Amino acid sequence: MGDVRLARSAQDVALAYAIRAEVFVVEQGVPTDLELDDLDGDADHFLAYAHGRPVGAARLVVERPGFPGAPDAPGPVGHLGRLAVRRGMRGSGLGVALVRAVEARARQRGLAVMALSAQTYAIGFYERLGYTAHGPEFDDAGLPHRWMTATL
Ligand SMILES: CC(C)(COP(=O)(O)OP(=O)(O)OC[C@H]1O[C@@H](n2cnc3c(N)ncnc32)[C@H](O)[C@@H]1OP(=O)(O)O)[C@@H](O)C(=O)NCCC(=O)NCCS
Repeated sequence: MGDVRLARSAQDVALAYAIRAEVFVVEQGVPTDLELDDLDGDADHFLAYAHGRPVGAARLVVERPGFPGAPDAPGPVGHLGRLAVRRGMRGSGLGVALVRAVEARARQRGLAVMALSAQTYAIGFYERLGYTAHGPEFDDAGLPHRWMTATL
């Protein structure tokens, strides 16, 4: 398991944004003005470290009941997003460690359900972690996605 920490300073959050920019904007071609959004200000941000360096990021947003990612959940919903590991560091468990850290934080915050919008290529990754896809495929930032949920 990698070492995952909650971002506790503006500097940490900037490191998370830099990893996201490298992965989503440079590698996947998502426009910068969509990659950073209004939810970032209220999110919990996470960093994954390897050999003491930050190489992965993710965020947790708490959404209101009725959130489209989990419309049937009775209370607020955890929304895991912006999961990214630098290309050269993939395949060593950091993605899984980030998901587990975000889930642990969501439980701490009293949430019972996690939702995420998965790029369709990554659905298998999340299924292995207990998530189930629902609803139709939709476009987000030019990439095909589906909603997935898991009970925490
Ligand atoms: C998705 C992502 C975060 C996974 O990170 P990672 O550090 O490579 O993941 P892990 O090493 O923890 O992978 C764990 C397992 O999932 C598997 N896996 C990784 N990507 C997968 C995929 N797309 N489909 C199915 N399985 C996958 C790995 O092979 C590994 O299996 P193993 O344990 O049998 O070796 C990473 O590929 C990434 O940053 N992609 C670009 C950004 C992105 O698309 N994010 C997701 C947006 S929804």
